[in-house]
Amino acid sequence: MIKNILLTGCNGYLGSKFVEKFSNDYQINGFDTNFFDCSNKVATALGNVIQKDIRNLTTNDLQNIDCVIHMAELSNDPLGELNSKLTYEINHQATINLLSLMEKTNIKKFIYMSSCSVYGYNEKTVTEKSELNPITTYAKAKVRNENYILENDFSFKIAILRNATAFGFSPNIRLDLVINDLVYSAIKNSKIELLSDGKPKRPFVHVEDICNIIEHLIKNDNYEKLLLNIGRNELNCSIIEIAEKIAKLTNISNISIGKSNADERSYNVNFDLLKNILPNYEFVYNLDNGILDLIENFSKYIDSYNSRRLKKIKFLIRKKKIDEMLYWN
Ligand SMILES: NC(=O)c1ccc[n+]([C@@H]2O[C@H](COP(=O)([O-])OP(=O)(O)OC[C@H]3O[C@@H](n4cnc5c(N)ncnc54)[C@H](O)[C@@H]3O)[C@@H](O)[C@H]2O)c1
Repeated sequence: MIKNILLTGCNGYLGSKFVEKFSNDYQINGFDTNFFDCSNKVATALGNVIQKDIRNLTTNDLQNIDCVIHMAELSNDPLGELNSKLTYEINHQATINLLSLMEKTNIKKFIYMSSCSVYGYNEKTVTEKSELNPITTYAKAKVRNENYILENDFSFKIAILRNATAFGFSPNIRLDLVINDLVYSAIKNSKIELLSDGKPKRPFVHVEDICNIIEHLIKNDNYEKLLLNIGRNELNCSIIEIAEKIAKLTNISNISIGKSNADERSYNVNFDLLKNILPNYEFVYNLDNGILDLIENFSKYIDSYNSRRLKKIKFLIRKKKIDEMLYWN
């Protein structure tokens, strides 16, 4: 039975939500370098967050752990393009090192946060068996990690989660995710401003459903190595469909359209395998209740630099708080 969890990236958008939901059910050790100022909220829930860069992990950090949930990475395409060498160092090499450290322990399970962005651009509906087409450094690093995991043997069970684009409120919200950004802009600026022409398609999933599914996969032992798309078929939408839904729910009709080639990524994803693996899982959120929940939370939310990850990292570099390789000075 899994009791002790090591959660890397515990202070992030998904990590802080996981802590909020499950810190009473598991002993969670949180590791994070804390670029985005969430240590207080998470530490209050956990009582224990270690400020540590995942590039510096040692086997001492993995003592008495049953399961590792690995979320700490540079978490989106623009951030991944800042310095591609750095992105491979944090997102790929540190993951490989973590896996090899885990081989020296009795850890039973590894849950890895990959992304549907490995599909990049595809006109057909993609499944876990489809050919990959990663466009950005961020997505290419995810593919490298997946391949490393799939091509090697490990002494622990592994679930690779190809998450759809997340949305929804969390203790450390990201406004660089399209639904969160558009709802925020509708509420605060009374306009819905698309960067693209709205045609690109992609799947969405609520942050809370991702956390619930991770927890189901912690409890479920019927796999050795699993590669799964995480999301629901009904939430494959074009950006313009999202904008229209937000317009309806916020009563803001002012939608402006961006450039036609502003976003090369477009894909429609099939999530049937997830239904087969977790047949009893019922999604908590669809688009409507997820957007309504965001609207309610944004009424009392004050934005800061933290919510846009690339902006915050550039700010920390400019102020010489961190160096060019993202180590704290
Ligand atoms: N949010 C999404 O839509 C989404 C979709 C697919 C996959 N994912 C993946 O899920 C994971 C979590 O994403 P998120 O949205 O919570 O991102 P996030 O940026 O909010 O959280 C990442 C956390 O990792 C920490 N971190 C970054 N580099 C680190 C380092 N070198 N050492 C230690 N900590 C470090 C950051 O401080 C941050 O708290 C990432 O791997 C991301 O690629 C997210």
